[in-house]
Amino acid sequence: MDRYGIFVDGSWQETGEWEDVRNKFTGEVLARVSVASREDVARAVRAARLAADRGPLPAYQRYEILLRARDLLTERVEDFARTIAAESGKPLKEARVEVSRAVQTLTLSGEEAKRIHGEGVPVEAAPGAENRLAFTIRAPVGVVCAISPFNFPLNLAAHKIAPALAAGNAVVHKPAGTTPLTAAKLCQVLVDAGLPPGYLNLVFGPGARVGDWLLEDPEIDMYTFTGSPAIGERIKAKSGLRRVTLELGNNSAVIVHKDAELATAARLSAARAFANAGQVCISVQRIYVQKDILDAFSDELVRATQALKVGDPLDPGTDVGPMISEAEAARAEDWVHEAVEGGAKLLTGGTREGPLFQPTVLADVHASMKVVCNEVFAPVVTVIRYDTIDEAIEAVNDSHYGLQAGIFTESLEVAMEAARRIRVGGVMVNDTSSFRADLMPYGGVKGSGMGREGPKYAVEEMTDLKVIVLNLKGAR
Ligand code: SIN
Repeated sequence: MDRYGIFVDGSWQETGEWEDVRNKFTGEVLARVSVASREDVARAVRAARLAADRGPLPAYQRYEILLRARDLLTERVEDFARTIAAESGKPLKEARVEVSRAVQTLTLSGEEAKRIHGEGVPVEAAPGAENRLAFTIRAPVGVVCAISPFNFPLNLAAHKIAPALAAGNAVVHKPAGTTPLTAAKLCQVLVDAGLPPGYLNLVFGPGARVGDWLLEDPEIDMYTFTGSPAIGERIKAKSGLRRVTLELGNNSAVIVHKDAELATAARLSAARAFANAGQVCISVQRIYVQKDILDAFSDELVRATQALKVGDPLDPGTDVGPMISEAEAARAEDWVHEAVEGGAKLLTGGTREGPLFQPTVLADVHASMKVVCNEVFAPVVTVIRYDTIDEAIEAVNDSHYGLQAGIFTESLEVAMEAARRIRVGGVMVNDTSSFRADLMPYGGVKGSGMGREGPKYAVEEMTDLKVIVLNLKGAR
């Protein structure tokens, strides 16, 4: 059986405490990983600190390492895809897409390494600043702690680690406890690509222990995290004046207006509500449908939903695999039961077999039901009737989240009205909330967090703007 130690200062190290990593569909043990102690975490942070203090590698080397890592990942697509499918439950075809997206993320980050620059500042425009020459540079923040989730164990880790390295930082990575194998393989790719010791360190262990030790370590300069609002708030509260990027989920909404291309809207909504068993922060959860097309849309949506194949993620034909754990599937089942008891109508799904939860469509829901107002993070979608576009926009905004939203309409005026007024980080027109290209700015407002991912934007978050002013001879 494979065993993975933690990775500190350029070497894999066994800690003596082991945790099993299981296949989320069969429950079989896939591998074991070493759990970090408090001293191990401190050593990992120290190694990153020393690397950061040695100073960034030259930009061309950061570029070369990230592009070499991209090439190695391309050679190892199938191994990564199968690891993701087995340890996270993501269907193989989606896992392959995730790997190809991570190839993009590494490429984009490598390219960013060559584009980090400041600008000239015309200080002489200010009285008293005569004969000065000023310009800005962007300096790496130092040590970045990357805490990545289970739902995109490769690409969301890459979105944190690769821009941090591109920007000249050193990294300590803590992946989700359920999906450490992909993280170990990503670390190995970067090492094989030539990343020198100290610039990437990897620790495993439960968030409540290892995560807390990382939060308490003053040598970390920035935290970049994707996960639950509760943990995001804890990171923000404990990080003091240090930098944070937080991506904390959403109860994503899509508006289907009366002039929408109905079949496309239904097909995309079904595909995007149930991808990765709904465990995507921008997964379609609330679909607001104009009353004139509600029945036709619901019929199409149910038909598309029932056509999805549910089962083993390693079967290439599977569309919807297991949730990350049986406990999470049971939680989703409870929420659906609670909604039905409160008057919601089950149009399809609602049943569970272990961690497999059937794709579920609910109608006649109320704004206060958990399946509407909380992030469901399960293959559950709600269809909600509206009359006017104002009403739909208000309903979409009636959420403590604000990550992404979608609107289907043939009217540019309606699309722009919605795009301007919906309080989110991104609005997708004639697409669902789930659209993401890896170079886009990605992040939310309100309870969805702060800061932006997407290599160009992440590099901005992971560098400090510094101004340099030269007092030229004539001013003395
Ligand atoms: C997420 O769940 O936040 C990531 C979604 C994506 O990258 O497509």
